[in-house]
Amino acid sequence: MGKIKDFIKKMPKAELHLHIEGTLEPELMFKMAKRNDVEIPYKCVKSLKQAYNFNNLQEFLDIYYQGAKVLKEEKDFYELTLDYLKKAKKQNIKHTEIFFDPQTHTLRGIEFEIVINGIKKALVTAKRDMGITSKIIMCFLRHLSEEDAFKTLEEALPYKKWITAVGLDSSEMGNPPSKFKRVFEKAIKEGFYTTAHAGEEGPPQYIWEALELLKVSRIDHGNRCMEDKKLIKELVQRRIPLTICPLSNVKLKVVKKINLHPIKKMMAKGLLVTVNSDDPAYFGGYVNENYLAIQKALSLTKEEIGTLGKNSFEASFLGEKDKMKRTKEVEKYCGKED
Ligand code: ADE
Ligand code: ZN
Repeated sequence: MGKIKDFIKKMPKAELHLHIEGTLEPELMFKMAKRNDVEIPYKCVKSLKQAYNFNNLQEFLDIYYQGAKVLKEEKDFYELTLDYLKKAKKQNIKHTEIFFDPQTHTLRGIEFEIVINGIKKALVTAKRDMGITSKIIMCFLRHLSEEDAFKTLEEALPYKKWITAVGLDSSEMGNPPSKFKRVFEKAIKEGFYTTAHAGEEGPPQYIWEALELLKVSRIDHGNRCMEDKKLIKELVQRRIPLTICPLSNVKLKVVKKINLHPIKKMMAKGLLVTVNSDDPAYFGGYVNENYLAIQKALSLTKEEIGTLGKNSFEASFLGEKDKMKRTKEVEKYCGKED
């Protein structure tokens, strides 16, 4: 048992579903609140952590957007991102694809430039000092209008070379992918890849819309595809990756308990699933804790863990050569361990 824990921890892996604002640990939140003179409606770290009990996605989002208000200066975004990357290094993450939500910041008067510069500088430092490669994915907040998303896309254009893809996140129910069809069309014309949160709380229809209208390369979460046989077939045939976040799913009550998580069944159906942490500072674990939780709950074998490791690189936005190189590394790692 100890052996498989070690096997997970040391396995080379990529993380593909990580909101940088969701890595804001309570201690750092308080430190930045003091530094930037922002009020937090909790008196200490302990009482803040006690509020991290969510019945659904919206209850989490309300606290998460409130927490992000402490981020004001470029150095805040730099420190936040670098703290995550140091943890990623310890967890043997070789490549990470980071979501950021510009509207969470621009709507309260923080310039787009401040946000992206802070994040990008930390990613450059991490590549230089830790050898971690990365991509940036800019998400539109789906509870806001398509017009707002268009404005955000315009703001992003001068930074096009730093941003690989656009995504869609925030409150899923009542905000279907179809609401953003035109802005995604424009993003594709501008050369961005696309991805979208779909089927976390929303129905399989939202996954279909993400595929057919937003032309996504992958689906973030996608748990509810399991309710639609035709959709599973489509995802398998097209090798569309699903970025699964087990601890998030338990915290937000997408699954009742970890033993009921569908990831093993998804793998058995041939779906290209990956393991990710979503908002680790809020959900109780970074990527390795997510692997460890499902391994234990579902008795995953070393072979299955190795497949998840390989999938993480295959599902990434890396070029074909890098994907091959990293996949081979995982294969070698698995072979050596047998
Ligand atoms: N923003 C941050 N985490 C999210 C999640 N799990 N679903 C939708 N939007 C999010
Ligand atoms: Zn997410």
